[in-house]
Amino acid sequence: MTTNELIMAIETSCDETSVAIVRGGREILSNLVASQIETHEQFGGVVPEIASRQHVEAITITMEKAVAEAGIGLRDLSAIAVTQGPGLVGSLLVGIVAAKSLAMALDLPLIGTHHIAGHIYANRLVQELVYPSVALVVSGGHTELVVLEREGVFRIIGRTRDDAVGEAYDKVARALKFPYPGGPHIDRLALDADDEIELPRAWLETDSYDFSFSGLKSAVLAAINQAQMKGEPPMRAALARGFQASVIDVLVTKALRAVHAEGARQLLLCGGVAANRGLRASLGARCEAEGVPLLVPPLSLCTDNAAMIGAAAHLKWKHGQFSSLDLKGEPMLSLEDWSV
Ligand code: KG4
Ligand code: ZN
Repeated sequence: MTTNELIMAIETSCDETSVAIVRGGREILSNLVASQIETHEQFGGVVPEIASRQHVEAITITMEKAVAEAGIGLRDLSAIAVTQGPGLVGSLLVGIVAAKSLAMALDLPLIGTHHIAGHIYANRLVQELVYPSVALVVSGGHTELVVLEREGVFRIIGRTRDDAVGEAYDKVARALKFPYPGGPHIDRLALDADDEIELPRAWLETDSYDFSFSGLKSAVLAAINQAQMKGEPPMRAALARGFQASVIDVLVTKALRAVHAEGARQLLLCGGVAANRGLRASLGARCEAEGVPLLVPPLSLCTDNAAMIGAAAHLKWKHGQFSSLDLKGEPMLSLEDWSV
């Protein structure tokens, strides 16, 4: 099987309709993202029913544009990849139906792809990976530490016990009256702040790689309530800075402990929260001090996009592991089970 295959990848797991053409799991020929943020902004979060309807409206034109922009014809494609899960079931379904139809029409293999494997392999669109490596996955729905002993084999050693880190960012931002998605607003406010309100860190058991952010989120909400009861405005910037400092401290410390314990040759940062400037800076500094190579995709490949799905689908392509046409969207799809 050639490893220079051309994969069309489709991603509709949440609130972006994205289609990409990726060669050999490494080279992006096109990567179109139709974002629905403006629609969901007014509701303060993603409304699943509206998300699926917008995917339906955007999917065909986005597929056409991705092919045109890549400068290829449909007959040049080797396979069709699509996010199978995790995600919103109604949103996943739209991408899956589109992928199946095209795979059937062109008689091409279909590759159901794991969304988090996509976030991790977004790093391979930038640089070749070496193994073993550790990935820190930080997104709106996920916070995980994943060990990759070899290519395409995933072992989760830590995960959040409550809120995902992006979810905590969005909830804190909402309480501080920022629009959805709030992560970037908190990031900016935190970096510009002069003062910091010291907030707790959830280390959990000494040997645990798990995370917990709901206590921290509650501490921020409590501080806002207290200010309100006193008739004072909340100290938004100092709270944002305290919140961000707590999140980063825990993420960076646990990620580096995992790198050393697993003998990892690289640390891969990925997911929407990898766009956080504070996190990038702290992780960068710690990794440099400890001699750990750190990979971080550019911002456009951190948030949901289809190129990362094409990069992960390449793993399955190489092993000839294809999906059948009765593929279903799986909101709870396991990353470890998806390993090659
Ligand atoms: O990976 P992603 O695009 O979607 C999911 O699969 O969840 O991540 C979106 C999340 C949102 O919660 C958003 O607030 C957060 O990433 N995010 C950030 C930043 N940019 C995006 N969080 C903190 N700081 C940022 N700069
Ligand atoms: Zn994502």
